[in-house]
Amino acid sequence: MKDPLKDIIGSLGSELKEKKVVLCITGSIAAVESPEIARVLMRYGAEVHTAMSISAQKIIQPVAFEWATGNPVIVDLTGKIEHVQLAGEWIGRADLVLIAPSTANTIGKIANGIDDTVVTTIATTAIGSGIPLLIVPAMHVSMYKHPALIENIKKLESFGVEFIVPHIQEGKAKIQEVQEIVERVISRLSEKDMLNLKVLIMAGPTIEQIDPIRVITNKSSGKMGIALTKEAFRRGADVKLIYGPGQENPPSYIDCIRVESTEEMFNVVISELESDDFHFVVSVAAIADYTPVKRFDHKIVSKDTKELSLKLKSTPKIIEKVKQISPDIFLVAFKAEYNIKKDELINRAHEKLKLVNADLIIANDVGKSGVGFGEDKNEAFIIDKDKKIIHILPSLKSEVARKIFSNALEKFQKKE
Ligand SMILES: Cc1cc2nc3c(=O)[nH]c(=O)nc-3n(C[C@H](O)[C@H](O)[C@H](O)COP(=O)(O)O)c2cc1C
Repeated sequence: MKDPLKDIIGSLGSELKEKKVVLCITGSIAAVESPEIARVLMRYGAEVHTAMSISAQKIIQPVAFEWATGNPVIVDLTGKIEHVQLAGEWIGRADLVLIAPSTANTIGKIANGIDDTVVTTIATTAIGSGIPLLIVPAMHVSMYKHPALIENIKKLESFGVEFIVPHIQEGKAKIQEVQEIVERVISRLSEKDMLNLKVLIMAGPTIEQIDPIRVITNKSSGKMGIALTKEAFRRGADVKLIYGPGQENPPSYIDCIRVESTEEMFNVVISELESDDFHFVVSVAAIADYTPVKRFDHKIVSKDTKELSLKLKSTPKIIEKVKQISPDIFLVAFKAEYNIKKDELINRAHEKLKLVNADLIIANDVGKSGVGFGEDKNEAFIIDKDKKIIHILPSLKSEVARKIFSNALEKFQKKE
């Protein structure tokens, strides 16, 4: 039977499998969010150890972290030299140290080589032994604006320490969403095999106005596109996301342009392709194929309109323009079908690949339950120009994204 405190390890993905993360907590009220940070790190596969400053222990009890991680909490340094055990130069050390939240006080001490708490001593040891250190500041804006703090952050950045910039809300520099903090940890620990490569991703649905309040759209959420965006970022690519009106929140560290209609998506994509040299374009957006011929400029009054016929016209095919503008780009297209036989799905996808001159096409049947639109999982076939097929069994969209980029990158490198 699994350890009941650790049975969640790997439940959301394997991105942090076999990684040891030290989560340090300091005396900010945001410390109440730290157990959740520990749990989400574990859900992606990490083994988490925690260390707390005395001020942090006044805000939240160590027992919360003992429960959250299934490991003893370091509240004091003893003859076991816990700081060296976790962050020193030996084989069993941690892969990354994360201070979340970090007070201004702790940042100031680390920047100036002072280590008089458990947290600052672990941080000093990590910097000295080359373990990645990520700091998530939290404080009132007045503290965040202090020139000494600004200097301390700059100084630490020059030592290779990374900061997860807080968002300013209600006069406070608040820590980013838990998911986003974990995403940065994953990214920091991922292999950077896409450095210096530029990727443009189109994701989500588009909407076409019928009248000022009624629209035609589809069920795409943008989850697959955001998973692909995160994957490219993790691998070190320079990613830009063009995202339709889906309900997902793209991570704040991603350069994202929000669009609504197909026309807007078209204009943004064309202008991006004309003004920048992208290496990859991934078109996973469910772009409306039809738009009303006429858009009513007033709300259609339903009591006067017993029957309503809408005349639709087809929209321009953005994906067909990609290779016309940038013939050398590596184009990854998607083809979604509903409830059709596998062979038919593959044939139709391959026809589309040829039509748009794509390098790869990802085919999926959104009629299957538990995969596709709005779901966390996907089942897909990666099909290349020679109709060589790789079947990705139902798996988390992050996993599907990883396989797609591994495949695309391999082919791109051969093409170069
Ligand atoms: C309830 C409470 C909330 C606090 N929140 C913050 C904070 O968000 N950021 C900060 O820099 N200091 C905050 N402080 C002040 C720090 O706890 C104080 O500077 C302390 O010396 C930090 O010690 P440490 O860095 O070793 O944890 C807070 C104090 C209290 C009592």
